Amino acid sequence: MNAKSNGHQTAIVTGASSGIGLGVTRALLERGYHVVGTSRTISKSKEVKASGDLVLVDGDISKKDAAITVADAAIRHFGRIDLLVNCAGIYITKPFTDYTPEDFEMMISTNVAGYFFITQQVVAQMRKEKSGHIVSISTVLVDQPLAGAHISLPVISKSTIPAFSRALAMEYVADRIRFNTISPGVVDTPMHANDDHESLKKLHPIPRLVQISEIVDALLYLQSAPMVNGENIRIDGGAHAGAKW
Ligand SMILES: NC(=O)c1ccc[n+]([C@@H]2O[C@H](COP(=O)([O-])OP(=O)(O)OC[C@H]3O[C@@H](n4cnc5c(N)ncnc54)[C@H](OP(=O)(O)O)[C@@H]3O)[C@@H](O)[C@H]2O)c1
Repeated sequence: MNAKSNGHQTAIVTGASSGIGLGVTRALLERGYHVVGTSRTISKSKEVKASGDLVLVDGDISKKDAAITVADAAIRHFGRIDLLVNCAGIYITKPFTDYTPEDFEMMISTNVAGYFFITQQVVAQMRKEKSGHIVSISTVLVDQPLAGAHISLPVISKSTIPAFSRALAMEYVADRIRFNTISPGVVDTPMHANDDHESLKKLHPIPRLVQISEIVDALLYLQSAPMVNGENIRIDGGAHAGAKW
């Protein structure tokens, strides 16, 4: 801790304007964290307002320059980075053969580069602090694809996250930086606002949607569990364990 942090922990949350990232941002602020929240449009959001504890940074997280700006804002305002929560992501569903080069570029840049560049910036700072924790959101579809579902590109992009997190957990274990993954089933967020919730519920053996608060609970658990590293917590009503009979 230092003068700027004033005893508070500092978190960066990507995708903080909506859904899981918004829920995480609110929960961390309630628990006394300083937060830098980022998304392409967060400064225009009606859901979050900048304050002494919350800095908002607009930017496309798939771009290295945006990642540098976000990490710099955390250090400039709060003096350190204790936690990065990689929530920014998009979901484009089509039959495999219909995906266009633009779809591919958009999904890989947002869901893979959007994790890669900000994690690089944050790790560089955490190495100086000799501590830190990076939690990234994947999806249980990586473990349990669904018959007939058009999810190949989401799976290509999101399957990198648990593997990359495990690799980094080992690469930086001597620097005491932890990396964990949360893999949800279908979460009740704006991402699925126009989808048929009754059908989506049936994808989970426990037949309801996952609530944002349940993702937040997993994050808070991981924050409180210093021996948990390289883990992937599935929150999916058991979907990864098997199909509903
Ligand atoms: N909802 C689910 O069922 C579910 C299930 C499994 C995994 N996930 C994953 O969980 C994460 C959060 O999903 P959600 O349901 O909370 O989605 P959401 O409500 O649609 O929120 C997505 C967030 O990502 C931001 N974002 C998108 N592209 C961005 C970019 N290029 N640069 C910066 N920010 C960007 C959006 O803000 P702007 O538009 O302002 O940029 C928004 O804040 C995603 O990675 C998603 O893949 C969701």
